[in-house]
Amino acid sequence: MSEPRYFIKTYGCQMNERDSEIMAGQLEQMGYVASSIDRDADLIVINTCAVRGSAEEHALGYIGQLRQLKQERPEMTLAVAGCMAQEPGTIAWLTRHAPQVDLVFGTHNLHKLPDLLDRVAQSDEMVVDVWKAAGEVVEHLPSRRKDGLKAFVNIIYGCDKFCTYCIVPFTRGRERSREMEPVIQEVRALAQEGYQDVTVLGQNVNSYGHDLDPQHDLADLLVELEQIDGIRWLRYTTSHPRDFSQKLIDTIAASQKITHHVHLPVQAGSDPILKRMNRKYTRDSYLDLIDRVKEKIPDASLTTDIIVGFPGETEEDFEQTLDLVRRVRYDAAFTFTYSPREKTPAARWENRDPVPNQIKKDRLNRLMELQYQISWEANQALVGQTMLVVVEDLSKKNDRVWACRTHTNKVVLVARDPSVNLLDKFVPVKITGAKTFYLTGELAGPALPNMVSRTREAALPMV
Ligand code: 5AD
Ligand code: SF4
Repeated sequence: MSEPRYFIKTYGCQMNERDSEIMAGQLEQMGYVASSIDRDADLIVINTCAVRGSAEEHALGYIGQLRQLKQERPEMTLAVAGCMAQEPGTIAWLTRHAPQVDLVFGTHNLHKLPDLLDRVAQSDEMVVDVWKAAGEVVEHLPSRRKDGLKAFVNIIYGCDKFCTYCIVPFTRGRERSREMEPVIQEVRALAQEGYQDVTVLGQNVNSYGHDLDPQHDLADLLVELEQIDGIRWLRYTTSHPRDFSQKLIDTIAASQKITHHVHLPVQAGSDPILKRMNRKYTRDSYLDLIDRVKEKIPDASLTTDIIVGFPGETEEDFEQTLDLVRRVRYDAAFTFTYSPREKTPAARWENRDPVPNQIKKDRLNRLMELQYQISWEANQALVGQTMLVVVEDLSKKNDRVWACRTHTNKVVLVARDPSVNLLDKFVPVKITGAKTFYLTGELAGPALPNMVSRTREAALPMV
């Protein structure tokens, strides 16, 4: 009998991607092999995201599509995991509308996947096992990371901030930091395997370590990690402006490895809205933080998240957001229209979603138009510079082109010489052109030697 095959569909953030790697690691330890398409899989796991209504709709649409596959091959297993599973409404919905699902489990018990699959094998009914709260941080779980030089490492789980719009504290629970030593050991092992571009992860990495004894902070951890040979770039995500300390800014400025990409979600530009969002900073204190970042790290690329149409947002409030965007001049912004999430404080307000859809859409368009112009100008300013990039992949649209990334997290497209495989190499590139969402460049020297080869030789198309 051939090995069983698994397929994992991941929605949402990098925490979810990392969770999927841990699920994949457990499955491979059980003897499963990865399948690149869902139709061939014996087990499909849908790792869901609940952060916005649209994320949920995508996952539910996919679950609906799988109904037919399950009818054709009733012996296959269909599992729903992740943040949506933590919402009680989801289980009721799945039971009624998606009886094809065999297993539902949440974000706190994914390390129990082998046991859960055993239970599915012995049951004729949908197995539901969702923990309300997290247990102790579980170390030493197997994981199957993606190919390439990039690796994600969890450092803190959960979030204690309780922004009034946000479901994350309910789906991911209270903050729990990993001890520093296992994190350091994990990154050391990654470096030995040849990973060079490491991102430490948490819903709010800036509160890392406050719950440890003795206490540590993110800056302390990054200083330890940057001493590890073989690691070239260190990233961290996601940040909360309230906890982004001067010590961290100084540490980044002094470091050769911590990348100069600073993602600081602002969410809104007006004080009354920030207050209603429970963001715990003001427009002025945020702008002061940005000034201090720019002063110490002048080449930093700055990005943000913004929500438009939050309950109570007036035209005047929204103009304050536009004004803040003009002042900060972000390199890029992720922009969203507000959608109420069950259980969150804002969803319990009497008038839970008063801004009409049309106004939300109109504000989103105006915001995007402004941001695109600023992104284009920021990218133009880089033309002529030479910078180190990591070659991440072939361009999706054109396999004669490499898709590369700068440490400031910008995409650079570089023409590919088919006789040289630069995949998973660091190369210097001269920036020759700029668009809103990417740069173009040309090779400006030989690739840096990799201490451990992780170069993927696999089937690059000839051109
Ligand atoms: N509605 C719209 N956008 C939201 N986000 C989080 N919750 C909501 C919501 N209820 C956005 C925030 C956050 C990003 C991950 O998603 O901007 O930073
Ligand atoms: Fe989505 Fe938030 Fe869960 Fe990440 S933590 S998957 S963004 S709901």
